[in-house]
Amino acid sequence: MQVTLKVMRYDPNKAAKPSWVSYQVEAEPMDRVLDLLHKVKYQQDGTLAFRRSCGHGICGSDAMVINGQNRLACKALVKDLTKKAGDTITVEPIRGLPVEKDLVVDMEPFFEAYRAVKPYLINDEPPPDRERLQSPEDRARFDASTKCILCAACTTSCPVFWVNGSYIGPAAIVQAHRFIFDSRDRGARERFQALAASTGVWRCRTAYNCTEACPREIPVTQAIEEVKRAILYDKF
Ligand code: SF4
Ligand code: F3S
Ligand code: FES
Repeated sequence: MQVTLKVMRYDPNKAAKPSWVSYQVEAEPMDRVLDLLHKVKYQQDGTLAFRRSCGHGICGSDAMVINGQNRLACKALVKDLTKKAGDTITVEPIRGLPVEKDLVVDMEPFFEAYRAVKPYLINDEPPPDRERLQSPEDRARFDASTKCILCAACTTSCPVFWVNGSYIGPAAIVQAHRFIFDSRDRGARERFQALAASTGVWRCRTAYNCTEACPREIPVTQAIEEVKRAILYDKF
């Protein structure tokens, strides 16, 4: 089948603003949008810029706005997109982060928020002879949050983040959730400094865009609510 791939392109060194460029691409129904981008880059225009690595929904590097929704290009199938919206597929960079070129954005503000929640196990108590044990029930408490691949689809779909980029964002909160609710961790209060600040969890307006955007089906809004309650009823 023939698909029109409409890509929002922008080279800040050459143009004052972004513009749409359309490419006609031969596609199979089971092709992913990532395959179409490769076809354009390798066969039509080598200047097209986008990020990708694993090609299989693991590395989190190819989140983009596809037909108006945040998705991973390596998981968005042509057959699903064309069934809903015809044979034109639109691709734009994720929103709220500065565009470096075409679909490549500056992820540094996103990772700054990630680092602010100290996304690692904190426990200064002397370690036991063997590993720090944990019951299956305690492990289940933060299981969903361990699935995050830091793709930024959640944070860049959040209207609060679009308006104010200093909001720490749902991805960082999910990462905080992963450690706050880990029974072996003792660093919750350290993380609360960033999470309870004016740029932290209280900015969330429960818009749910983040949960809908997450390619790992993490209940992001629920994690945010749990972190809010943890701060309010501090039992750490
Ligand atoms: Fe991506 Fe989901 Fe992690 Fe957000 S919570 S960064 S959408 S995997
Ligand atoms: Fe934004 Fe998600 Fe809250 S979209 S407002 S972080 S529920
Ligand atoms: Fe790694 Fe899509 S290329 S998640």
